[in-house]
Amino acid sequence: MAQTPENKAAWLSGSKVTPLEVGPAPYTQPGPHQIVVKNSALGINSVDWAKQLLGEGLLGHISYPFILGEDVAGTVVEVGEGVERFRVGDRVLAAAAAISLNTSLEGGFQLYTVIREWLAAPLPESITFEQASVIPLAVFTASHGLFDAGYLGLDLPTVPAPPSSADKHAVIITGGSSAVGSTAIQLAVSAGYEVVSTASPKNFDYVKKLGATHVFDYNSGTVIDDISAAVKGLHLAGGYSIGDGSIDLLAAVLAKHEGPSTHKVIALAGGQPGGGSIDPSVQVKFILLGPDAAGPDSVASKIYKNYLPEALANEQFVPAPEAIVVGKGLEKIQEAFGIHMQGVSAKKIVVSL
Ligand SMILES: NC(=O)c1ccc[n+]([C@@H]2O[C@H](COP(=O)([O-])OP(=O)(O)OC[C@H]3O[C@@H](n4cnc5c(N)ncnc54)[C@H](OP(=O)(O)O)[C@@H]3O)[C@@H](O)[C@H]2O)c1
Repeated sequence: MAQTPENKAAWLSGSKVTPLEVGPAPYTQPGPHQIVVKNSALGINSVDWAKQLLGEGLLGHISYPFILGEDVAGTVVEVGEGVERFRVGDRVLAAAAAISLNTSLEGGFQLYTVIREWLAAPLPESITFEQASVIPLAVFTASHGLFDAGYLGLDLPTVPAPPSSADKHAVIITGGSSAVGSTAIQLAVSAGYEVVSTASPKNFDYVKKLGATHVFDYNSGTVIDDISAAVKGLHLAGGYSIGDGSIDLLAAVLAKHEGPSTHKVIALAGGQPGGGSIDPSVQVKFILLGPDAAGPDSVASKIYKNYLPEALANEQFVPAPEAIVVGKGLEKIQEAFGIHMQGVSAKKIVVSL
């Protein structure tokens, strides 16, 4: 690159400091197998505003000043040594790995972000940057919990999805209308699993469109029995938990499942336990996106490299949920935190640049 571009970031300057401070930031050159993305849209995640609110109570490893932000979509402006999948000018979506790696300069909330190339995928012209920015952390979180051997260890997704067999395997993914849930359902269906999910009734059609075979209301008094009936007789590959009370619900279903096999593991993305006792035969594993999860040999890397490019291009995987664009500019991120904090339903809060 002839001239180093001027970069700016929305900095979390210290513990519990509000608002984020928009100001100059170093432009980071790409190292080997890294690309620099000029960001056009940024997704907001609960970890961003939760870290700002809770300070050392969350992600205590992070040092200040820090650049948060995990979801970026934009254009490649520079490629590092050994990068073969991308060229300058390519449109991409990417997971910014600052939190996983405690490398502030890899945060998403800036104009230019340096990205590990295996955490990026080419973006078809038909998908806007804003819509693409709903995907990256959701893919990272969903794929680690579903496919990593330390969690559910499901078969990887393929394009096209494997043909359905008589010997059906199912997975239960709660919170199907959340950003992570919307992605997890599509990945599991692409891997050949039958998906049973939960959501509010107003989102049943949305969740079914993503590929879930059955969706039940998580507030219904019969939800455990309804899910149990839906998976009866099938191999049950485990539970993926999103939403308060989902651990209890999943544990109850896994504990009493009647079928040829039951993998009694819950991959926990988020949500508070409901307070009931969890059957001791069921293991609950919180999804930790540490340095290994963001590494070149990670499951996320396989999804970004081997699945997403083709799946996005042929619409086997679609960006979901719908992006709600709060405004334009790094200055809008703090406002976007406030909106996301109020709660969303089958929507993702996004800032464009
Ligand atoms: N472990 C990690 O590394 C990691 C990474 C990313 C996210 N997370 C966590 O994963 C969870 C999902 O994140 P997200 O960004 O996808 O969330 P989100 O889109 O903001 O979640 C909103 C959705 O949650 C659904 N929901 C709320 N309560 C529910 C319940 N009790 N049961 C089922 N669904 C419920 C709502 O469904 P309805 O509107 O249909 O009611 C709504 O559509 C969060 O807890 C987040 O903190 C963890």
